[in-house]
Formats: sequence, structure tokens, C-alpha cells
Amino acid sequence: MKTTVKLFMAIVALSCAVACGEKSSLPDYLNPEVYVEARIDDAMSRMTLDEKIAIIHAQSKFSSAGVPRLGIPELWTTDGPHGIRPEVLWDEWVQAGWTNDKCVAFPALTALAATWNTDMAALYGKSIGEEARYREKDVLLGPGVNIYRSPLNGRNFEYMGEDPYLASRMVVPYVQGVQRNGVAACVKHYALNNSETFRHTTEPVVDDRTLYEIYLPAFKAAVVEGGAWSIMGAYNLFRGEHACHNDLLLNKILKGEWGFDGAVISDWGGTHDTREAITNGLDLEFGTWTDGLTMGKTNSYDLYHLADAYKKLIESGEYTTKELDDKVRRVLRLMYRTSMNRDKPMGSLVSDEHIAAAYTIGAEGIVLLKNDNNILPINLETTKTIAVIGENAIKMMTIGGGSSSLKVKKEVSPLEGLRKRVGDSAEILYARGYVGDTTSVYKRVDSGQRLADDRSEKELIAEAVDVAKRADVVLYFGGLNKAKRQDCEGTDRESLGLPYSQDKLIAALAEVTDRVVFVNISGNAVAMPWIDSVPAIVQGWYLGSEAGNSLAAVLVGDVNPSGKLPFTFPVQLADTGAHSMGQFSKDGEEYYGEGLLVGYRWNDAKDVAPLFAFGHGLSYTTFEYGEAKINRTTMKQGGEVTITVPVTNTGSRSGKEVVQLYIADREASVMRPEKELKGFVKVELEAGQTKNVEFTVDSSALSYFDDKSHSWVAEAGEFEALIGAAADDIRTSVLFNLK
Ligand code: BGC
Repeated sequence: MKTTVKLFMAIVALSCAVACGEKSSLPDYLNPEVYVEARIDDAMSRMTLDEKIAIIHAQSKFSSAGVPRLGIPELWTTDGPHGIRPEVLWDEWVQAGWTNDKCVAFPALTALAATWNTDMAALYGKSIGEEARYREKDVLLGPGVNIYRSPLNGRNFEYMGEDPYLASRMVVPYVQGVQRNGVAACVKHYALNNSETFRHTTEPVVDDRTLYEIYLPAFKAAVVEGGAWSIMGAYNLFRGEHACHNDLLLNKILKGEWGFDGAVISDWGGTHDTREAITNGLDLEFGTWTDGLTMGKTNSYDLYHLADAYKKLIESGEYTTKELDDKVRRVLRLMYRTSMNRDKPMGSLVSDEHIAAAYTIGAEGIVLLKNDNNILPINLETTKTIAVIGENAIKMMTIGGGSSSLKVKKEVSPLEGLRKRVGDSAEILYARGYVGDTTSVYKRVDSGQRLADDRSEKELIAEAVDVAKRADVVLYFGGLNKAKRQDCEGTDRESLGLPYSQDKLIAALAEVTDRVVFVNISGNAVAMPWIDSVPAIVQGWYLGSEAGNSLAAVLVGDVNPSGKLPFTFPVQLADTGAHSMGQFSKDGEEYYGEGLLVGYRWNDAKDVAPLFAFGHGLSYTTFEYGEAKINRTTMKQGGEVTITVPVTNTGSRSGKEVVQLYIADREASVMRPEKELKGFVKVELEAGQTKNVEFTVDSSALSYFDDKSHSWVAEAGEFEALIGAAADDIRTSVLFNLK
């Protein structure tokens, strides 16, 4: 039978089957995955060389061409991980000025990771996928899962923290939630994009074991378990080649070892060499000639590496169409899954559900770091005056920071959220305290705020101190913002300390009252030299559209905090592996000398106490852990053991606790981190209630990556399962043996 006839019959049969709701029991030849491959074969057999070349590179800042002659539409991508970017002009970074492209800003990915709740990741993916779908985007440029290696990385706020296991568990439901909408997730930035300032020229020097154990797992999970349809190459180099056309990362690992069948998309301007782009795994080129992302008006898409230059090399006979056909097949597959997917839902934009999702995820991600004398939650029955101090109480945080900048329908500031929630119950006084970033227009999106203030530091502090003196409690909203050299793409931070003399201001406040609550708005750890004089500390992240409502709910106790840190807060920079034993943010080779000892692995190995540990987070109630029990103390290779621990809510209100399982290899023949996260369960408990939390441990949780055999090895011997409330708060443990 001719392909076209077969195809026709398949389409007819498929339509009947789908109409009868029989999709799940379809025979192979009607299974969309198989059927799509037939459609791709058919399309490829009809496409000319020019048409093939046209679909593997951009045609505008965010779109690539289809094949109009065959009815194949264009492919539209959009940033980013936290919301759908405003429409931009055809070939520029700035917004086009549409009036119907305002979105919901969801909490930044650090906040999502801090929920330690995979249901929240699923809700996030579903909601942002629906927004992307409604805006007719085919590829969402996110989520980001680069590992938090140093608190100075300007882009940490877009990622999911320092631990490969946590990031892996959180990225999978996000990807699946997005893709259920017929929108591809584009997991970024693969791989080792762990600093910003020299992102185009830095070349991390990392050994295989560290690569496989720390920096790759979240990408692998997104691809293998999440089924990601696309992935974005990183800007940096690795072992002599840029990551966007890197034989090892793309051909060998991603497409070889992990069996990735989707498309590799270059980061914007991340393609540098035509021959490498042809052979080393890149499928779709975007953003070339953007000259460090500053230019853009004069792009000439025919000049792209995978455009005329490639065509000439094929015509001259230097390359056959072997590589081209593979790229085209992958791009067409991406299109059949997205732009040409006939089953996709309609999507929705700024729906009540999406606003509610942003609120819930935000509230669940807030981390209560310190709460001496139970100063929080604020008791509105006894509190008459609340002082709100700090620029971050009023500043819009959904603009700025680079490609994740958004144009929102609404953003509730902390001050607004508190005013609304507190109402007439207490008087709220506000003082700015410091002047930080007064930018209000970003890529032509205007926040509408006018933040210029020419008062001197002395005047600002004096006003804040005066307001603090008159209040029963001081809520200080400070931290970082989305300006350059803070939490911002393209630059790294210059120090761990708070900017704009905030330390001085906080110390001045703490002198006049012992009731200061520091709410840190950031995607990064900051130093807190004044920590002993401030009784309560809250990690407030960038929470998006509903920021103020989520924060108010936690501060007054409507929501009992249950977030846990997805990364370590060091006391000082030298307490971080990257800064103690490694190099950070370098032009050229950058040694990851700390190897596996990233985050809490460093604290454990060097016996360095953190300011706040990975996994730390308090609640307005208390939890007690009973003794862990194991179903058998000997585990066979390939087998598993089950560990159970009773957890009781010993306080007077309901709450959620993240019970964490770390595994320690007690008899390793190689260096292994002291302990590594291998499980977590978020459990909800009423006051007085006890639940048994169960963990299943299999050999994957016990393995290390053996670079000699290039495989994961679980060595026979003794292991310990440590269960606790944070990396530095292990409550119970049990030993077992692997045969
Ligand atoms: C960023 C990506 C982003 C792309 C498109 C790049 O500069 O690194 O994360 O998706 O621009 O805006």
C-alpha cells in the first residue's frame, strides 16, 4: 500500500477511535506516537532542502518557520519559567505594546522548590501551561534546573535549589503539567550554567562523577521521567565545546544514554560554530547575532549557522542530509506534539484558578527560618500598630531580572496584601528605610511605580526608626531585587551581604525594638550579621502576582508555614564549597574544585555550621518524630527496603511537615558525601495527630556513579537511613546492609 493511502486509512480509523473514546486501547498503527512518526515520514518525503533548512532556525526573536506549502504552521516559543512573557516586536527584545498579553506571575522556581510538594509542581505546570496555550505558544522556555552552586549566581531564583534529588522530583510534574496542554517544556540550561557574568565564555571543569551525580540528574529526570519534548542548551562551554553544540552532552548523554527524542533548542545566541552545530546535537537555532543579547534589530536569519551556511555545506558535498534529516524529524515531532497537536485544550489566561494557584504555591513555599518567642504569627487581637519597613514591601518584583521578566495583570505588594488582610484590626505605618532599585520600566514594560526618592540614608533611617518605635511589631521587607548584580540574569552578585546599607538599617531598628521580623525577598541566600538581635526571619522569595496575599496569610497565621529551604544559607561565602575549594564566575576555565560537595554536602564534610540548613523550615506548630523502623535489615541487590517513621503534631494547630530521608554509605570504598537526600514526604497533621510516614529505598538511592565503569554502583555494605526535619536536624535513623 502506498504511504498516502496508509496514512489516509490511519487518519480515518484514528478519528473513529478517538471519537469513540478508545484512544488508550489503540493498536500500534493508530497509537498517536506511532502515527505521528508516519506523518513525519510523509512530511519529510515531500519537503525540499530549503524547507528543511527553514524549520531548523529562527525566523524572528521567538518563532521559527513552518512549511506553508504543506500546511505546517510556525512554531512559537516564549519565556519563561514563571509566567508567559509579553509579546515582543518581531526582531526585538522589547514588548510590542499589546494590551491583551498580561499574565499571571507564578512564584519563582526557588519558591516552588521550597514547597517540597510535588502536587504544587504539578499545579504550577498545569497552570502556566494553560496560560502558554491560551497565548498560542508552542514551547515554554522553562523550567530551569541548574544546580545552586553558589549564592552569588544571579539566576538562582529561576532554578530549583542545590540538591539533585529535590530538583528531580519537582521538575517531573512541572514538565508533565505543561505538556498536557500541548505545550512543550524546554528544560534549561543544559548543562552547567551555574554563573552568569561570563556565561558565554566560562568553561566549568567538572569530573564525570560530579557531573552525573550533581549536575545532570534533574535534566535526566525531566527527560526520562517527565518526557520533556525539548531542552535548551546552555551558553557556557564544556570540555572544549559550547553546550549548545556539544557532542558529549547532547549526542552521547542526552540523545544516547537517555534516549531523548525531542528537539535541542539553542539558548538565544548560544550557537557559535556551523560544523559543530551540524554534528553535535543542536536541532533548532535561536537568537544568533544578538551580540550578547544587546542588539537585535538587524538580525538576518539567513546568516544563522543552521541556515545558508549549512545549506552550502550540503550542496558542496561536505555533509549529506543525514544530520539534517535527524534535526528535521525532531523539529517536526516537536510540532506534532504542540503546534500541530489536534487534541490540545484551549488554555486560559489570568483565570481565577491561576491566581489561586499562584497564591497557594506562594504561601506553601514561604519558609519560616526563625521564630523566637513565637513572635509570629501576628496576633491581630492584641496588636494595635504594625510598622512595615523596607523598599521590598512596595516594589513590584515581576519586572526585571532578565528573560523571566513579565507583564502582569496584577501584582499585590506585601504592603497592599497586609493592608487588605489586617483591615481595621490594626494600624499599619510604612517607612521606606532605604532606596535600592528605582527602575520602573523594563523592556518597555512599565510597572507604573515611580520610586525615585532623594532623601539621604540618614533621613531614611531616622524615619524608619521613628515608625518602629511607635509599633508593636516591625515587619521589615528587604533582601535583594531584580536589578543587575542582584537576582538578575547576565550578572552575578558581588557579595553575600545585603545591598543598600540594609544591615545598618536593620541594626538601627533592632536597637529600638526587640520585635523585628525580617522578611527576605530574594531567590538567594544573604548574610545576616544582625541575626541574634532579630527574633523572626522569613524567606519570602519572589512570589509573583499574589505575593502580598501569600505573605500576609503566613504572617498573620491564616496559613501555617510549611516551606523548607531548597538550598543552604551559609554564614559567609567561604562556608560554601564553590568559594572555598572551587572557583566561581570565571572567564575561561572554572574549576569546580569542591566536586560533589555542593550545598549541605560541603557543610557535612567540613563540619561547617550553616546559618540555615538545607531542608530547614519552622511551623507554627511542632512535630515530633518517633523511632524509624525498617522491614528488613538486609537488602538484596536490585531489591528494596521500607522504612517507616511515626510523626506527631505536638502543637495546637494543624500543619504540614516535610519529612526528609537522607542515605549515608557507611562502608564506601570511594569518597561519598556524608549523607544525601533520597526521599521526602510532605505530611499534613491535625493537632495531636500521628501518621506513619513511609519511604521505600531501592538500590538507586544507594548508588554512586563509578566513572571507571561508567555506571551506577551500589556497593555491598552498611548503609544508614537518616530521617529528619532538615539536613542539620536528623531525628531518627536505622542501619541496614546491602548484600
Ligand atoms: C536566556 C534564556 C531565555 C532566552 C530567551 C536567554 O538569554 O538565557 O533562559 O529563555 O534568552 O529569552
